[in-house]
Amino acid sequence: MITKGSNQRNKKRHILVCLIIALLTITICLLVRKESDSLFRIFPSEKGFSGNGNAKFKLKQIHRHGVGSKHEWHQKLEVDADFVEQAGLLYERQVRINQKTYDEPLWTNHHEFATENPFAYEFDISDDLLDMKRMADRSPEFIEGYSEFALSSPEMAAKVQIDWIDEKVIVPNITDKKTEVSLALMSSNAYVRIPHTGDWRNISRPWNRSESGGFGWNDDGLRGHVFANEKDNIVIISIKGTSAQGLPGSGVDETTVNDKINDNLLFSCCCARVSYLWTTVCDCYTKSYTCDEACLEKELRKKDYYYSATLDIYKHVRKDYPNATIWATGHSLGGALASLLGRTYGLPTVSFEAPGELLAAKRLHLPFPPGLPSYLEGIWQVGHTADPIFMGTCNGASSSCSVAGYAMETSCHTGRVCVYDVVKDKGWHVNLLNHRIHTVIDDILNQYEEVATCVEPDPCIDCYNWKYIPEKGASSTKSSSMTKTTTHTSTGTPTSSCVARNWFGLCTRYE
Ligand SMILES: *[C@@H]1O[C@H](CO)[C@@H](O)[C@H](O)[C@H]1NC(C)=O
Ligand SMILES: *[C@@H]1O[C@H](CO)[C@@H](O)[C@H](O)[C@H]1NC(C)=O
Ligand SMILES: *[C@@H]1O[C@H](CO)[C@@H](O)[C@H](O)[C@H]1NC(C)=O
Ligand SMILES: *[C@@H]1O[C@H](CO)[C@@H](O)[C@H](O)[C@H]1NC(C)=O
Repeated sequence: MITKGSNQRNKKRHILVCLIIALLTITICLLVRKESDSLFRIFPSEKGFSGNGNAKFKLKQIHRHGVGSKHEWHQKLEVDADFVEQAGLLYERQVRINQKTYDEPLWTNHHEFATENPFAYEFDISDDLLDMKRMADRSPEFIEGYSEFALSSPEMAAKVQIDWIDEKVIVPNITDKKTEVSLALMSSNAYVRIPHTGDWRNISRPWNRSESGGFGWNDDGLRGHVFANEKDNIVIISIKGTSAQGLPGSGVDETTVNDKINDNLLFSCCCARVSYLWTTVCDCYTKSYTCDEACLEKELRKKDYYYSATLDIYKHVRKDYPNATIWATGHSLGGALASLLGRTYGLPTVSFEAPGELLAAKRLHLPFPPGLPSYLEGIWQVGHTADPIFMGTCNGASSSCSVAGYAMETSCHTGRVCVYDVVKDKGWHVNLLNHRIHTVIDDILNQYEEVATCVEPDPCIDCYNWKYIPEKGASSTKSSSMTKTTTHTSTGTPTSSCVARNWFGLCTRYE
């Protein structure tokens, strides 16, 4: 039997050990931060540089990053004349085959942007300056170290003093139609399948031919296309979106399986546990409308998913272009990942038709500047009212998303939303086909005389009928009797047991 005395001694020792660990972690955090401070502040592009006005951007690199068991793989291809030529030939062939199956090209139908070769295309971009509030230290060491720390010790992380600075940042001129179209074309460019040839450089561990099944490594993972202007002082990373099987018009690629897993992880209330019929993508569901929050947060951050792969691609691009201003863009899943990346590192970001990513941003504890109005965030979400994925209405048992096995349950966005109301203006019907990037470019962005005004989104709550508990089985909560519906308005009262979050989104108080 353990006596009371030894019990108390054990307790004291336990507290002491905890305190020592905490102090060590904070010291390391502060040290890392000191070092990276000096690295960061010399960026000339972020000091006094006043933009380029108009510039032409070209594809410079293609990254592919493994996920799942191949999450350590990261390869890069520098786009040179040889590659452009080969890729052009391959594209011609793809279009020919595609015409038989989809009767539409992969790129765009519109004559104004027609090209024989999307890999050689020149994108017209105009830039602008925006006052942004960002973390003073945005080095990967600090940001990732800090968010790891926040995940494991939320209370202590909340007490670490973070420096925020106000600065003028070069951002895309989002009021310029040509710029918006170019960014959408870049997002579309990331979907175009790349040839299996070319001089891929192994960035992470050597590419193992026998492990990859012997025929190259296109079958898996995340793709990022990197564009730069002539001066190399603005670089744009475009993240590829979902290639979905069963979703009309989104194309089929070798990445389909992983795209679906990541969609279901990022945009569902709880691991895509929609009903008992669904295969879940993680094991955080505890019981009826009850989900383990800590489990979800760990899951999202795992190295073998797309979010982590996106950060890796960014880190590498930042090494290659240390003096450049980096922006992010993407369509659909790619847009949401771009937005999560942008929020992580304070990068100006423009997404197209992205599903609601606010919930994922909170679960990942991404920096939300304290007391900051969202117009200072430098994140723009372009979308339209006839796209059920952007509007967050592609759910419910009979929706095309659910039928195809996608649990797109979220609808809340971060940053500013720039919405084309095609339902009102053009009488369009809500249809998944309208989610396609070509439809968006050809029939919306290019058709409207004026670009959509970007506004702060309405207050919004996702998954309001779910309870999120701190740890699996930690407390018994009564199950909600509400039926399973999600909302994209703020009409629902949140019954989630997380009642307070700190500035970086961490749950600090449970009901
Ligand atoms: C942004 O684009 C608009 C429309 O083309 C233009 O009038 C404005 O001057 C541009 N802003 C900058 C800073 O170039
Ligand atoms: C990448 O790794 C693979 C397998 O180890 C190797 O065959 C290939 O030559 C490497 N590529 C480069 C450019 O080093
Ligand atoms: C490649 O993968 C195979 C199978 O997993 C393994 O046996 C082999 O040692 C690996 N080669 C290298 C160079 O890592
Ligand atoms: C970045 O700027 C620094 C300081 O101005 C310079 O020394 C360095 O060569 C530049 N790097 C690149 C890749 O242009």
